[in-house]
Amino acid sequence: MPTALIGPRNNPINALGTPLSPSATRVMLLGAGELGKEVIIALQRLGVETIAVDRYADAPGMQVAHRAHVVTMTDGPALRAIIEKERPHLVVPEIEAIATDMLLEIEREGLAEVIPTARATRLTMNREGIRRLVAEELGLPTSPYAFAGSLAELQAAIDGGIGYPCLVKPTMSSSGKGQSLLRGPDDVLKAWEYALQGGRVSQSHVIVEGFIDFEYEITLLTVRAIGSSGKVETYFCEPVGHVQVNGDYVESWQPQSMSDVAREKSRMIAQAVTGNLGGRGIFGVELFVKGDQVWFSEVSPRPHDTGLVTLASQRFSEFELHARAILGLPVDVSLRSPGASAVIYGVIEGKGIAYAGVADALSVAGSDLRLFGKPESFKKRRMGVAVATASDTTEARRRAKLAASKVRTIEPEGHSA
Ligand SMILES: Nc1ncnc2c1ncn2[C@@H]1O[C@H](COP(=O)(O)OP(=O)(O)OP(=O)(O)O)[C@@H](O)[C@H]1O
Ligand SMILES: [Mg+2]
Repeated sequence: MPTALIGPRNNPINALGTPLSPSATRVMLLGAGELGKEVIIALQRLGVETIAVDRYADAPGMQVAHRAHVVTMTDGPALRAIIEKERPHLVVPEIEAIATDMLLEIEREGLAEVIPTARATRLTMNREGIRRLVAEELGLPTSPYAFAGSLAELQAAIDGGIGYPCLVKPTMSSSGKGQSLLRGPDDVLKAWEYALQGGRVSQSHVIVEGFIDFEYEITLLTVRAIGSSGKVETYFCEPVGHVQVNGDYVESWQPQSMSDVAREKSRMIAQAVTGNLGGRGIFGVELFVKGDQVWFSEVSPRPHDTGLVTLASQRFSEFELHARAILGLPVDVSLRSPGASAVIYGVIEGKGIAYAGVADALSVAGSDLRLFGKPESFKKRRMGVAVATASDTTEARRRAKLAASKVRTIEPEGHSA
């Protein structure tokens, strides 16, 4: 029997139950996109009862969960109501935009355990919370930065030391939304207005960051899981390299080669940040690297989109690692083969689209595919991903990109079965 410590503090569970029975181990995903869908599949394989929650019907994760609910997750009382109704042992956020104050309350009352911790979800949903923690409390290297609540404050922060080029981002946003690169004083007004439009919650707060001229950027997938000592230990996956276009990832690969010094510094930063956030589960620690220099950028206390590559490259994907870690089970972060991932975008707009060229994509050596089953396509919406393995990452990247390029999104009318 595993020495699992899952479940609310007052109600420890020492074994996994049978789903849909009184013994069930219940896990609720808050956010049921493509990353949540893979976590749910991993949990299903361990006989866990899964509940998917998202803001729209038929989200990818809902299609593979035992039950699904459409809930506005930024609405605290609505979030609480669904947790009280379902009584999950674990609540697993998949996205940032959640009423995290309510998660703090739920954790405090012992109603459910929040993964990794309610505090981690609150700090990381706002760039200010996590940046101040990492730079000011932990003293780790980041880009120079300042926060501004008005155009005048933004201009003053840039003139007062941040300088150009710099980046302006809403404090609450993800996937590059509302972000701009400023090359000179003429760009400031436009960047301010763009950030206001792109912010997630109605708020007018931005971070301005000095531009880091990095050589490459990585996601260091870091797992906090119960080890042989019976206590939480920290494990590091091989670094994932990636390419971002307009703040959204288009391609990733593993392993990214690094100098020994940069690798060691990266692990030290990831250990310090995830150790402070606490709890169990996987974290995506985003770092910028130049030679032996490493800067912390941000962290997701959950699986990371660039980590989709691990579906092909690791013995256990980041989703399986997350599932195991949160259940209090041991993890194995070893690499299986060099690998890569390439995103498949919607390209066309519409509901119930079709995918042509799947056979061609899967004919690419070493390739595999995930089509997320999202009910509606937008031009820049991530609808699927191609992954591939090879003897090196250069070839794996070529294969993944080739496989992704073979998949064509088409109007449903054009879909002759
Ligand atoms: N200070 C910086 N200097 C140089 N490049 C940067 C800086 N900040 C961000 N970037 C670039 O922009 C990308 C997106 O930035 P960031 O991760 O902060 O945004 P995000 O909206 O949280 O994106 P995501 O949700 O996809 O992680 C980074 O991965 C990096 O390529
Ligand atoms: Mg990022």
